[in-house]
Amino acid sequence: MLRAKIIATGSYAPERKLTNFDLEKMMDTSDEWITERTGIKERRIAGERQSTSDLAYEASKAALKQAGLKAKDIDLIVVATVTGDMPVPSTACLLQNLLGAKKAAAFDISAACSGFIYGLSVADSFIRSGMYKRILLVGAETLSKFTDWEDRTTCVLFGDGAGAVILEAANGESGIVSTEMHSDGSLWELLNLPGGGSKYPPSKETINKRLHFLKMKGNETFKVAVRTLESLAVDTLKKNNLKPSQLSTLIPHQANLRIIQATANRLGLSMDKVVVNLDRYGNTSAASIPIALDEAVRIGRIREGDYVLLEAFGGGLTWASALIKW
Ligand code: ACO
Repeated sequence: MLRAKIIATGSYAPERKLTNFDLEKMMDTSDEWITERTGIKERRIAGERQSTSDLAYEASKAALKQAGLKAKDIDLIVVATVTGDMPVPSTACLLQNLLGAKKAAAFDISAACSGFIYGLSVADSFIRSGMYKRILLVGAETLSKFTDWEDRTTCVLFGDGAGAVILEAANGESGIVSTEMHSDGSLWELLNLPGGGSKYPPSKETINKRLHFLKMKGNETFKVAVRTLESLAVDTLKKNNLKPSQLSTLIPHQANLRIIQATANRLGLSMDKVVVNLDRYGNTSAASIPIALDEAVRIGRIREGDYVLLEAFGGGLTWASALIKW
């Protein structure tokens, strides 16, 4: 059976750490509130001149090195991001140039926190159709540049980073088993960044109204996320005739520890099967799953033959899952 197999992973996070204690000095918040409500302790912040493509470049170099490949070996580059360097060109094209991946086609995917899994679904389809053999998929974000540092209800949540995988056409059992993508645009107002597009083109007014920053109705988003992710995980396993006990590892999007625990409880999974790194990175949107995956792979937490479930929920609204046999 022809499958898309992840042959290498890589990740990168900017050096600068911003802890909850740093935030206490900047605004009316506390380490206690942030830790109890989210599980986040610190996040990474990109340098002033560091853009999303720079983070994507570092993660991609690490993945290429692990694979023993050169950039010219890549057929397609897909970058999942909602914080691209600029509206035109795509961040994937900027990454192609940085890497010197001359042969590769390149485009971005916009599905907020679900972007990496949307990307896996797209890459899987291209590989199984025979159109491409080797794909570099990156989730990369610099949310700190779109965060309203005067809004304590959002700015404590997000961080910057990038994670990359290389997918290759392979025959056999291991690879992506199934993917699912969903969306509900009627709930777009729960999470949006209204300014700078064709609806509210940049103007003094959009800047004064702070429309160029991310807005989130956190509590409403939380409730939909818990409900949706619990049933998504159960349905994905059911469709693949797997019991939760057959799952070796769950890698959820890293938005909130309480959301992650709710999904694990619903599946009856103990937390030692769940990869959690949001305490160190916060919510890095499309980058969160590939960073967590890379860390798990590099410490040998994922082994050949393991079933690994990825699932995410984000702006759009969007949600998605991927079941992988490693
Ligand atoms: N410090 C201290 N107090 C705060 C802070 C803060 N940083 N932020 C909010 N509060 C206060 C609020 O003002 C409120 O006070 P009030 O009761 O006096 O009005 C109180 O804390 C509770 O606020 P809630 O918003 O109800 O807190 P909640 O328990 O819902 O937690 C959170 C907020 C962490 C944002 C949670 O709702 C959440 O995680 N939501 C889901 C996020 C998510 O999954 N997003 C999708 C992915 S992101 C993407 O796609 C880019």
